Amino acid sequence: MTALTLSTAGAATLRADALVVGVAKSGKTLVVAPGAEAVDKAFDGLAAVLETLGASGAEGEATKLPAPAGLKAPVVLAVGLGAAPEDGESYDAEVLRRAAGVAARTLTGSKKAAFALPIAAAEDAAAIAEGALLGAYAYTAYQETGKDAKKPLAEVALLGAKPRDKAYKAAAERAQAVAEEINRARDLVNQPPNDLYPATFAAAVQAAGKEYGLKVQVLDEKALTKGGFGGILGVGNGSVNPPRLVRVAYTHPKAEKTLALVGKGITYDSGGISLKPAGHNETMKCDMAGAAAVFSSVVAAARLGLEVNVTGWLALAENMPSGSATRPGDVLRMYSGKTVEVLNTDAEGRLVLADALTKASEEHPDAIVDVATLTGAMVLALGDRTFGIMANDDDFRTAIHEIAEEVGEQSWPMPLPADLRKTMDSPTADMANMGVRMGGGLVAGLFLQEFVGEGIAWAHLDIAGPAFHEGAPYGYTPKGGTGSSVRTLVKLAERTAAGEL
Ligand code: BES
Ligand code: ZN
Ligand code: ZN
Repeated sequence: MTALTLSTAGAATLRADALVVGVAKSGKTLVVAPGAEAVDKAFDGLAAVLETLGASGAEGEATKLPAPAGLKAPVVLAVGLGAAPEDGESYDAEVLRRAAGVAARTLTGSKKAAFALPIAAAEDAAAIAEGALLGAYAYTAYQETGKDAKKPLAEVALLGAKPRDKAYKAAAERAQAVAEEINRARDLVNQPPNDLYPATFAAAVQAAGKEYGLKVQVLDEKALTKGGFGGILGVGNGSVNPPRLVRVAYTHPKAEKTLALVGKGITYDSGGISLKPAGHNETMKCDMAGAAAVFSSVVAAARLGLEVNVTGWLALAENMPSGSATRPGDVLRMYSGKTVEVLNTDAEGRLVLADALTKASEEHPDAIVDVATLTGAMVLALGDRTFGIMANDDDFRTAIHEIAEEVGEQSWPMPLPADLRKTMDSPTADMANMGVRMGGGLVAGLFLQEFVGEGIAWAHLDIAGPAFHEGAPYGYTPKGGTGSSVRTLVKLAERTAAGEL
């Protein structure tokens, strides 16, 4: 884990392996961003040196330079910040977060980096800390150790972050907790499905529960059978690794509100009997990213001591074909009592979520948010960096969209058109697990809505696109698991605690 320190030292005097500075475009010229004045001076004009090297100051750009005499660090890394803000304005938090991420990623293999990026307020320090800790992430659990070149940056020192100022200290501590929890979610998503299956996922929750004082209850296949959880059992019964429903609860004695978070936890989605073709199953270990985000967010709420109760529900199953697997045509009796005809065993997420939503509703939380890598249709609609938000309440959907924007997560509000509901009518059961293909992400949302308790505000985040990044790393986003939606959920819990929702 990468360490974070706030330092009072000047950029010229701090001992580090590299010194990170920001460079921006001001019209056609390059400018060195505030915070790096001493570095600029040591170079006798850093912008000109960077221009000579062809740097443009564009976001994502990183230029490594040998440090001149007068600096304690041997290397200077200039990261692009895009257009410099207007006079009196400060840099956008997401720009700082991404630039810090690029720097941390570029410095893989280094021990300590000092970040001299522009900090005008505590929020800027938080964004830089978050970006650096997220960018430093690497998943190496299954690789030979001892290769220094692959070791993530070990220490991030923030310069200009006022360590004795309460607001700065709190902002840095929050950033570190949130970043570490996002990285926990990434680890779980990246863990191969032969090692992460429902029972081992549940054990990981129990271990974290002990560490952070959370109440963890695990329903195993026996308890699920006894309770009548036909959706979760129907999806899990093709696998030798039986399903689990995990409840992980953080409570605060002064909490006035309870937020329930429900996560899709398909530890591997082969499609089941409706088997996915080659090319569609290589990344399907990511199908538990919703459950990972929910788990991490509950732990984050505990680490931050938020004055709100946050209950996580993880619907864990492995979707496999076998002689005991659910067939297309089977009818499942769900936990709610409703019957569902399974027309396509690859539409399994909604089945496990339905049972968890019914169960979560029994406790009458003030709001429920479910998170799921639910449909390929949402990826077609919004691409692979944006999650869709559906809800039974327009204000709640808008609030989540705005929160996501504020924390730097791309999302978009999606409708739940009532006319699509009838496409899930079944001649045999109360409904089918599939409707029309067009608008498939919305059909899935309409399916889930039927299992939400009366009068409870509910939102559904379809993170199928952004949960797993297959392209080259960018900003603070690595290849593989991204930890999508954790920042949004944590901020939502904070807003709920503050009585703002
Ligand atoms: N896990 C998939 C959705 C998915 C697709 C996640 C791509 C991440 C990336 C889900 O279980 C699924 O297979 N959905 C089907 C539903 C269809 C059969 C109604 C889909 O989207 O094709
Ligand atoms: Zn599926
Ligand atoms: Zn799935």
